[in-house]
Amino acid sequence: MRPEPRPGVLDIEPYVPGKSTAPNVAKVFKLSSNETPLGPSPRAIAAYQAEGAHLEEYPDGSASALREAIGRAFGLDPARIVCGAGSDDLLHLLAYAYLADGDEAIYTRHGFLVYPIVTLGTGATPVVVPEKNYTADVDAILGAVTGKTRIVFLANPNNPTGTYLPFDEIKRLHRGLPERVLLVLDAAYAEYVTRNDYEAGIELVSTSENVVMCRTFSKIHGLAALRLGWMFGPAHIVDAVNRIRGPFNVSSAAIAAGVAAIEDLEHQERSRAHNTRWLDWLTREIGKLGLAVTPSAANFLLIHFPDRKGFSASDADAFLTARGLILRQLGAYKLPNALRMSVGSAEANGLVVAALRDFLARAA
Ligand SMILES: Cc1ncc(COP(=O)(O)O)c(C=O)c1O
Repeated sequence: MRPEPRPGVLDIEPYVPGKSTAPNVAKVFKLSSNETPLGPSPRAIAAYQAEGAHLEEYPDGSASALREAIGRAFGLDPARIVCGAGSDDLLHLLAYAYLADGDEAIYTRHGFLVYPIVTLGTGATPVVVPEKNYTADVDAILGAVTGKTRIVFLANPNNPTGTYLPFDEIKRLHRGLPERVLLVLDAAYAEYVTRNDYEAGIELVSTSENVVMCRTFSKIHGLAALRLGWMFGPAHIVDAVNRIRGPFNVSSAAIAAGVAAIEDLEHQERSRAHNTRWLDWLTREIGKLGLAVTPSAANFLLIHFPDRKGFSASDADAFLTARGLILRQLGAYKLPNALRMSVGSAEANGLVVAALRDFLARAA
């Protein structure tokens, strides 16, 4: 006899983060975790460092300064914001608050892998629905709803495909869901989207009782190491999540850096402009090499390889890694013939295109 975890826990495929090392290479470019090549705002770094003088003190458990700064930045009521140790923390909290044994949570075939993890962890069942053209399919999601459905998780844009649903489609999805089903709009990459038919979730959250939007400081704000995310939701959901979250789930350093980051609009604009420019360039240049690239609205792109010996995604990954260029293999995302590349520095982007050109020439 020994302690046994609840049913579901041992069915979880452990999450494998993007690789960060390449053996025997002088310079490594990590393009496997959708981190920003511009780093955080210098003001956020200074705010983080200043916290070093007070490490004996507990943080403000309600992260008021940060919720107020986010409220000012987006015109939101700070009382309807919850901060978390990364948006992962918030996804876990939402699952624990709203799922129980026997319930179902829907996510899409190439959806973010944290959704099945948090679902199985509660004893609920993840229900995977097909996508169309690597894009979430509203009809498929609505068709999968049963009397047991409690949550629909949707990353918009999605990781790792980079595709997004326009606001009209999100509204259609919401209209088709029963009111008891919680729609989680995970907008981790919202700041990078430059399409005018996109809405991250603020409007829908503001006008309904069953939608939450999750955001992160790990991407455009460059604070992945600090673990910081936030959620905007209806008062009753904020209340439930606040009851179960760790009372000090966000550190003082993360709060201070987060306030500085959200207020540094210039840095955000620079990061977005860098991304837009290089995302377009990479999509074009990699396409010219004859590889299919899924159009992306985020800070990464999905590159498809033929399922042929010598040309495959894992052959390409080995070739690129030997040059210190680390992309993300996607077998766990049911995309074994694709690699995901985060938009990097000008130098890294140029090196990847040159390496792919050499890879294809050599393999041919
Ligand atoms: C779609 C999506 N949601 C959430 C996250 C989690 O971000 P974090 O926990 O760093 O805030 C990621 C990170 O890769 C993501 O791609």
